[in-house]
Amino acid sequence: MKSEQQGKSNIAIVKYWGKKGFQLPANPSISFTLDNIYTQTEFALKERSNNDAFEINFFFENKPKPEFLPKILAFFKSINPYFSWLQHYCLEIHSYNNFPFGTGIASSASSMSALAKCIMDLDQQIKGEPLSNEFLMQRVSYYSRIGSGSACRSVYNGFSEWGKHPDIVGSSDEYAIGLTNIHPDFMQIRDAVLLIETSEKSVSSSKGHDMLNEHWYANRRFEQGFENTKLLYRALQDGDINHFGQIAEQEALTLHAMMLTSTEGYFLINPNTLNVLNAIRQFRIRQGIQAFFTMDAGANVHLLYFEKDKSAIKSFINKELLQYCSNKEYIDSPIAK
Ligand code: PMV
Repeated sequence: MKSEQQGKSNIAIVKYWGKKGFQLPANPSISFTLDNIYTQTEFALKERSNNDAFEINFFFENKPKPEFLPKILAFFKSINPYFSWLQHYCLEIHSYNNFPFGTGIASSASSMSALAKCIMDLDQQIKGEPLSNEFLMQRVSYYSRIGSGSACRSVYNGFSEWGKHPDIVGSSDEYAIGLTNIHPDFMQIRDAVLLIETSEKSVSSSKGHDMLNEHWYANRRFEQGFENTKLLYRALQDGDINHFGQIAEQEALTLHAMMLTSTEGYFLINPNTLNVLNAIRQFRIRQGIQAFFTMDAGANVHLLYFEKDKSAIKSFINKELLQYCSNKEYIDSPIAK
């Protein structure tokens, strides 16, 4: 029996940075899903007799990847209680990214959401009980979250929200929801990911989240995350692009400020990151084009812009930004619709 599924990446505008309990967010977050950046996963179940040991064979781009196994094993250990059939099989997983590995683009959101989709698909095949689409997405989001928090938002096209918020009906800490009533202008948004540093991050996201447990500014940051979630959702509904951009940039800079000001203070940005941030702001002022930046937990910069400005942005990137990018590369994606 097998399942083949695609999981997409997403970029957060309001950031999830800091956990409470097991894989629950300290504050709500909002992201949009990236159509062009995805992981394709094939998950096959092989019958096993009582004598065979439970086994997971994991291949990344057709090669065994033992270094990925600890994360995958931890994920299966956490979800085992929900899928009792898993113990009757050996698992073979093949995963492929459509973007080069080691570009600093986090693949945990796309890979974990693809894996969770496969598991829920197999669960339905085995139990023969089809679920409603809405409930199925919710379950996929729930299990994606267990693999990687930010992955739970990748399940939906368009904009999604994760984390209980008093003003957002249906919101939950346990799974993300797809946001409705988004102004049509925002469905024209695009993200050009400027690949500034492609080496592995010096501090992983899990360590980064942990550092919020003992952080002078953590509580104020979490309050800001709640407030910005409310303000951003309003801007998304109203079509207020400038307010959207202001929140996006504030959130990106705050994410990195939290790293700088943690007890063990560290930074993932480098001089070229700052060169790109400056260039984007100057371009916006000079050209009057609504182009903004955000960042993940890494040195890369995500340039957010709109479909109508595609050719102006392309020449801006080529003329001014590629000089700061490693291998002069970037990856461009529309929002998933
Ligand atoms: O999903 P994790 O645990 O790798 O956390 C990633 C968090 C950020 O990408 C930095 C922000 C976000 O909300 O996606």
